Amino acid sequence: MDKLIVHGGTPIHGAITISGSKNASLPILAATLLTDEDCVIRRVPDVSDTNYMVQILTGLGADVERFSGTVRVTASDITDTAPYDIVRRMRASVCVMGPLLARKRRCVVALPGGCVIGDRPVDLHIRGLEALGAKAEMEGGNVILSAPDGLKGATIDLCGTSGPTVLGTDNVMMAATLAEGITTITSAACEPEVVDLADFLNAMGAKITGAGTPVITIEGVEKLKGCVHNVIPDRIEAGTFMAAAALAGEGVTLRRIRHEHLVAITNTLRKAGHQVHFNDVGDACTIHRGDTPMSAEIVTEPYPGYPTDMQAQMTALFATTPGTSIVVDTIFPQRFMHCAELKRMGADITVENGKAMIKGVDKLSAAPVMASDLRASAALVLAGLTAKGSTEIRRLYHIDRGYEHIDEKLLALGAHVERVRE
Ligand code: EPU
Repeated sequence: MDKLIVHGGTPIHGAITISGSKNASLPILAATLLTDEDCVIRRVPDVSDTNYMVQILTGLGADVERFSGTVRVTASDITDTAPYDIVRRMRASVCVMGPLLARKRRCVVALPGGCVIGDRPVDLHIRGLEALGAKAEMEGGNVILSAPDGLKGATIDLCGTSGPTVLGTDNVMMAATLAEGITTITSAACEPEVVDLADFLNAMGAKITGAGTPVITIEGVEKLKGCVHNVIPDRIEAGTFMAAAALAGEGVTLRRIRHEHLVAITNTLRKAGHQVHFNDVGDACTIHRGDTPMSAEIVTEPYPGYPTDMQAQMTALFATTPGTSIVVDTIFPQRFMHCAELKRMGADITVENGKAMIKGVDKLSAAPVMASDLRASAALVLAGLTAKGSTEIRRLYHIDRGYEHIDEKLLALGAHVERVRE
């Protein structure tokens, strides 16, 4: 098992290129199950979550080749069953449900358990697929969906108590591509990753309009074909390096980003006193740490609001920002595991009912800390960059789930980090 040692106090500067989006790649890889033709997906990040998805596709019978960021999938002969031992490792494996059901008219998918950021139910996914005419049963920890006569278009509202569901929207949209008639999803998630999936499905021959708005319309087609697709840049990886640059940077440039995906994060950094400059075409930005950083408030919301996947990293920045900052997570109110670890490094944070109150201290001090989930571990890396001494982050596999070669990117920016095998 690897650990990361971050030797604090070395400023970061220079330029790096942002990888393809993990959260766009996962449903797009799952969507290849909708056709028996070849799909070629470029800029798939080399992270363990995309490797798990490749294993799931292979386990279902697809032929998969992976070479330098490109994944080629041919799902000509697949089964309808995704067993627990391949599904349990990654919650996002639920997004094979929609494609399998549409293609095979039946699927058996083990339900993933809860995870450290919260309960994470899939009731909305199942409700959406039932509205398309599937019958759902639970048996032995599996959900069995069947629609022997095929799926039928319907109007489906996907709003839950915390707003729309991203992977639920993906699942219903994928299933509806092969349903008879027209499906309208209301209260659809508007995240850029949903738009990227819709672009991929349209390139396969689907007829989807409205992705990126709360109402998505899908006109079912009989068959989908293979295609080539480039995955969008990872806005959360970009946001993480933006926060790192605000915390410990002396001018950091990020290439291959999309300005329009980073508005909420940029606004927060500017409010906190840091400078973010985009180039004219909006595909690169440079971040300078402000001379007088200020406290700020974040409330996470569905896109285009401030992303829950970026609150832990911003908490690390606020830990040494003068004044009292507030972070409220309305999407995953239990997602504050990083705060206990940051406190071990000297941060002054109180967490109560989905809200963290962070009183900025002058400096953090290094401590051995434990990564608990993907974004929490990114927060600990960021905290280590300016802490006094060497921070040892254990359970690094959490960060390897979603950040492509993070240690190499930090080294390229001049940070003093070491990946050590324990
Ligand atoms: N929800 C329900 N019922 C459902 C589905 C969701 O009540 O059937 C609730 C959730 O409990 C949560 C809210 O709805 O309170 C939103 O959850 P959502 O379904 O949108 O989350 P997801 O689709 O499972 C994706 C990302 C997460 C990201 C969330 C929110 C992927 C692979 N995962 O999860 O990313 O936090 O959207 O933006 O796209 C991460 O990358 O670190 C990560 C956790």
